[in-house]
Amino acid sequence: MHYFTYRGNKLYCEDLSVKDLARKFTTPLYIYSARTILHHFYKIKRAFTKITPLICYSVKANSNLSILKLLVDNGAGLDIVSGGELYRAKKVGCPGEKIVYASVGKTEKEIKEAIDYGILMFNVESLPELLKINSIGSLLKKRISIALRINPEVDVNTHKYVNTSGGETKFGMDLSTVKTILEENKKYPFVDIVGVHFHLGSQITEVEPFIEAIRKVLEVVEEVEESKGVTLKYFNIGGGLGIVYDKEQPQEIEVFAERISSLLEEKKFRVILEPGRFIVGNSGILVTRVLYVKDATQKRFIIVDAGMNDLIRPALYNAYHKILPVELVSSSNKKKADVVGPVCETADFLGKDRDLDVKEGDYLAVFGCGAYGVSMSSNYNSRLRPSEILVKEAKAYLIRERECYEDLLQKEKIVSV
Ligand code: LLP
Repeated sequence: MHYFTYRGNKLYCEDLSVKDLARKFTTPLYIYSARTILHHFYKIKRAFTKITPLICYSVKANSNLSILKLLVDNGAGLDIVSGGELYRAKKVGCPGEKIVYASVGKTEKEIKEAIDYGILMFNVESLPELLKINSIGSLLKKRISIALRINPEVDVNTHKYVNTSGGETKFGMDLSTVKTILEENKKYPFVDIVGVHFHLGSQITEVEPFIEAIRKVLEVVEEVEESKGVTLKYFNIGGGLGIVYDKEQPQEIEVFAERISSLLEEKKFRVILEPGRFIVGNSGILVTRVLYVKDATQKRFIIVDAGMNDLIRPALYNAYHKILPVELVSSSNKKKADVVGPVCETADFLGKDRDLDVKEGDYLAVFGCGAYGVSMSSNYNSRLRPSEILVKEAKAYLIRERECYEDLLQKEKIVSV
């Protein structure tokens, strides 16, 4: 669901013509719909009303300050994974008590900065990290709140690069390690183990892995609570809710929430969710201009001005993003073509074998680019990262300026050796 719709043959974002925006702000251009973002935030919130979870939007999905602010102003907390994301969270005034911090590789500096800001808790991913946080706590003479990130090792049906559940991934700790830590919690006097956490992976369209993981984790937690008198306050089930890019049929959020709530509503925990893609995924498009149409011996290539540096998901995960003309033409001249960028890599494609009829100068919209688009963009090939626009009704706000050549060189030095 999103607010990018055709009025007649013209694509609109809320009440603005995408073509007009592309002309005004030039391409490549990311356009987000504020209404779509809020729609999804409130949709998830409503679906879970029974257990009133703390919803910590996952900053990595789209970390633009204006988008963070929009969500924080509407009551969201944030899920962060680095000092940089903490810096962003501070900039938009997210209260510390609504911030959770995951990552397998938190540095001492990052840990201290987050303690200084008074975050709600660290999601601890290993025993050495637990020891590190304990020693920092001892130094600061403070008990640091943490949750133990568990890898519940349930089967998740998603791309293997975004699957974080299973013995082969670096994330979290196995259940027996977590059980031992909970039983021996007195060994870590400067950490306060306040909860458990898991995150199974991303773009998950079924609820079953969540149910299985919750059951597995509850079993261990309840056993230790009973035998050792440990009490945990928080139960964090991570993010990972899938969206529609192509023909996926994700579990309806209401059904998803009902199944999860029924397992947790009788329990005393405050539930935490960390959705990223669900909130912003369909709220953004990448608009690109056709530079050339090239008929090679075996294929037609539509060469556009956006590349894998702007949107890496197709190259990295072979991800599908719908690509449609910004202005529809009634045409019988559609021909299968690969939509490719200017980057010097064969993996630089946005879409393969798409039925399109376009000419130089036309604009194309790549859908589903609100999550893991700009946040994964780069300057590869010394390309300038694109601008971003946030649309609300009939107003467009420039929320990130296109980079310029000087930006590229800002931190570099020329030395003669
Ligand atoms: N919580 C944790 C601890 C995570 O690692 C992630 C995502 C999330 C929450 C949010 O997951 P979401 O609700 O967005 O699925 N670049 C990939 C996705 C990587 C996800 C990494 N972790 C992609 O473009 O598909």
